[in-house]
Amino acid sequence: MKLTTFDLLKRKGVSPISVLTAYDYPTARTMEEAGVDVILVGDSLGNVVLGYENTLAVTVEDMIHHGKAVCRGAQKTFVVIDMPFLSYQVSVEDALRNAGRIVKETGCQAVKLEGGIEYADRVRAIVRAGIPVVGHIGLTPQSVNTLGGYRVQGKTLNAAKKLLEDARALEQAGAFSITLECVPEELARIITERSGVPTIGIGAGRYCDGQVLVFQDMLGYSDARKPKFAKQYADVHGVMLEAFKQYCEDCRQRTFPAKEHTFDIDQKIIDALL
Ligand code: KIV
Repeated sequence: MKLTTFDLLKRKGVSPISVLTAYDYPTARTMEEAGVDVILVGDSLGNVVLGYENTLAVTVEDMIHHGKAVCRGAQKTFVVIDMPFLSYQVSVEDALRNAGRIVKETGCQAVKLEGGIEYADRVRAIVRAGIPVVGHIGLTPQSVNTLGGYRVQGKTLNAAKKLLEDARALEQAGAFSITLECVPEELARIITERSGVPTIGIGAGRYCDGQVLVFQDMLGYSDARKPKFAKQYADVHGVMLEAFKQYCEDCRQRTFPAKEHTFDIDQKIIDALL
């Protein structure tokens, strides 16, 4: 049965929550079969699927297109969809309109947006409209150009205090969960202990209430450098590369297709054609 936000809240400090990103129907189906608790259609779509340098070019339409495919594939799984860059930053009205579109057009259960105190009013408005929201603080990839790259956040006293304040502001605004990305483990532990909602870590250590990984990182589904925090569970890139090479060779050698890959026709028809 599909989890609800209440089920996820009850898991805090009790039973760790598993989250993975997915961007298409077959992956979502397989994750559901595997029992993944929550599927996130991340705007990492931009770098890991669409080939952009970062997430900034991703549009609401992109998120809806891929979100619909994931929701069709994982009908019994809680699905969260990221609000992409500039779909909520400009105004509360914009944030509400775009969150509404994402939920109405995909059928997902919640949206996620990046930022703390400065976007708490967006979170409050979206939640008030009946849409559950996941916050996302720490390394927020939509701000890569102001953060000066993809680096661990919260390493100074002021930065650590700001993350604690951000987490509190998001919770007070009604976020039912908070993603912590690239945050030192002990700081993530304090944020987790002081939050009333589950924290979901990515590069935030062992003490969060759940973990999220990007599908391509955990499967080794690209030749890009694997982030330090990601555990690689398979070498899908290697498997695909070997299969593609073998296929090319089979085509060259005419060993594919073989007889078993072909269709028959009555010989009399062939004779009549000749
Ligand atoms: O877009 C994404 O994949 C994410 C995860 C890194 C949490 O936001």
